[in-house]
Amino acid sequence: MGNARRGSIQSPVMRSPKRDRKSDHRSGCRQPDLRADLPKGPAARTRLALQRDLDGSTTAQVNRGAAGGIADGRGLAAALALGAAGAALGTRFLASVECGADAEYKHGIIRATAADTVHGTLFDFGWPDAPHRVLRNSVVDEWERAGRPPTGQRPHEDEVIGEMHFGNVSMPVQRYAAFPAGTGFRGDVEKTALYAGQSCGLVNDLLPAADIVAQVAQQADAILRGLNPAG
Ligand SMILES: Cc1cc2nc3c(=O)[nH]c(=O)nc-3n(C[C@H](O)[C@H](O)[C@H](O)COP(=O)(O)O)c2cc1C
Repeated sequence: MGNARRGSIQSPVMRSPKRDRKSDHRSGCRQPDLRADLPKGPAARTRLALQRDLDGSTTAQVNRGAAGGIADGRGLAAALALGAAGAALGTRFLASVECGADAEYKHGIIRATAADTVHGTLFDFGWPDAPHRVLRNSVVDEWERAGRPPTGQRPHEDEVIGEMHFGNVSMPVQRYAAFPAGTGFRGDVEKTALYAGQSCGLVNDLLPAADIVAQVAQQADAILRGLNPAG
């Protein structure tokens, strides 16, 4: 969004892949290694602290995008005011018509507020030791009631909660798997890793992606014009 052409994304990193560890096979259900070859980015920081980076990048003639917690035109306007060339929205597009997430997952995002999210490393089968934020669900609740035991000692670690289908191939998905409930998942969606940023609190409807882009751009435009009536 905005006029970003290239540059790195500033993000409150949800998962920081560790490239030197193998997939987790502890409970017999092999989970694939989900660690993508993601670009390395700067560490998480608050939005206002971002301005220093953006100031530096302006002098270096590098366009930077902003990301993390932006789900409407107010966030985009703030990012542009801080000097970003544009913004990337993640959680907002989970609640889009085109997103492959399961419908129950999408509606969970729409219902949730930031307080309904939890940050940790709980959903680690297939992607160990990678911090992430998810919607609180029964898996999180049960683990907390059990006293937050470490991996290997958590409740029902061997439970198969569904299946992932890739064409003719299907594989079991177990509790604590890093797999989100997207296209091809059949099973208990509520027990999956329901990844969500705190910006879920700003997401109140399911819309086509094009409408989301138009709404966000129009709102940001109105705000920025209001701040600078002469412009
Ligand atoms: C479904 C989903 C999957 C994500 N996966 C990753 C990931 O693998 N690695 C990562 O660093 N961030 C991941 N993120 C976090 C995005 O980096 C984050 O959503 C982005 O910075 C935008 O923030 P926002 O969700 O508040 O708009 C994911 C976000 C969502 C919604």
